[in-house]
Amino acid sequence: MTLLVTGGAGYIGSHTVLELLAAGQDVLALDNLSNSSRESLRRVAALTGREPGFIQGDVRDRTLLDRIFTDTAIDGVVHFAGLKAVGESVSEPLRYFDNNVTGSITLCEAMAAAGVRRLVFSSSATVYGDPAAMPIDENCPTGTPTNPYGRSKLMVEQVLQDLGRSDPRWSIALLRYFNPVGAHASGRIGEDPHGVPNNLLPYITQVAVGRLKQLSVFGGDYPTPDGTGIRDYIHIVDLAQGHLAALDYLRQHTGVRIWNLGTGTGYSVLDMIRAFEVASGRAIPYVITGRRAGDIAECWADAGKARRELGWQAHRGLTQMMADAWRWQSENPDGYATGDTPQN
Ligand code: NAD
Ligand code: UFG
Repeated sequence: MTLLVTGGAGYIGSHTVLELLAAGQDVLALDNLSNSSRESLRRVAALTGREPGFIQGDVRDRTLLDRIFTDTAIDGVVHFAGLKAVGESVSEPLRYFDNNVTGSITLCEAMAAAGVRRLVFSSSATVYGDPAAMPIDENCPTGTPTNPYGRSKLMVEQVLQDLGRSDPRWSIALLRYFNPVGAHASGRIGEDPHGVPNNLLPYITQVAVGRLKQLSVFGGDYPTPDGTGIRDYIHIVDLAQGHLAALDYLRQHTGVRIWNLGTGTGYSVLDMIRAFEVASGRAIPYVITGRRAGDIAECWADAGKARRELGWQAHRGLTQMMADAWRWQSENPDGYATGDTPQN
């Protein structure tokens, strides 16, 4: 049987496809390449010695989905496909709701028609809004996301909750990611955002290789020990492995389940800069500017539920996150455009 991985060429998708292939799972990746390159999965194939199937197409294309479910024996779907740039979601809300919400609904309709009811969905800690207390566990009520991207994630969660209630045969995991960073230890795959990065670590690594001049630290007056924002950064390989643990669980349980995927430890922006400087030996010039609209002061997970129920926890610490992020960026200063894997 084969797993369909939507958005499989992207940052989290490619690392998850690698772990799935390494675990012996057959994979078919579906991606429209709107924010990724075909090269990521070529490198995954070179690293694992196993070729994932690949279809360039859109998750909103129902005809294509029906063909995939007819042609291939799919027994579950890991759904990464979506748009994720918070600022862009404010200026282009319809594109975000269409890709993220309509895309998810179309996928579920096609799954239901094909009788495939096992689904892992990429949600986000953003659905908690601005919680009153840390750490955040899964019983913390969802809050009010501050932007259309966050609202699209919460909407899809609600759609999937209703879907699970409507038909008990569904097995659905809502995985609430905290802040994925780093890269595979080989340095061959990593995060390669199109345009100027929105997220902290790719911004730092691009400053380090000279693609960007300096980092703006968004806010130095938060009620945190050093005044900068605190987040729960999780190594991308740990995060990818969390999907395998969730799939194992779904094979034995029905219903809709929610798990935080985080480490349980928070680091400030200044902690991150210092740790990166140590790992890379490069100084990161930065300036403290005003707060970014919509940011919260702090956000870290209670990671206990995933540990108890999935037997999964993050193992890789900050030093490894930084070393792996730097290996990827320094060996691929222009991301996947640096050098393509020869095709046979
Ligand atoms: P990414 O942009 O690298 O990957 C998303 C992939 O989906 C890309 O390859 C893109 O080309 C593809 N895609 C987008 N719209 C599509 C569509 N309509 N049809 C087919 N393919 C489409 O992003 P990522 O960081 O790998 O994120 C994966 C998922 O995890 C997203 O749903 C994102 O919202 C969610 N998430 C990411 C983070 C994070 O910090 N990276 C945090 C929480 C949740
Ligand atoms: N930051 C800077 N300068 C930058 C970029 C970020 O100081 O150039 C700061 C932010 O203010 C924040 C921290 O670094 O304090 C992390 O910011 P990111 O943009 O890397 O991550 P966010 O926590 O804002 O958001 C991320 C994902 C969202 C997801 C959220 C919760 O981008 O998709 O985590 O999972 F919803």
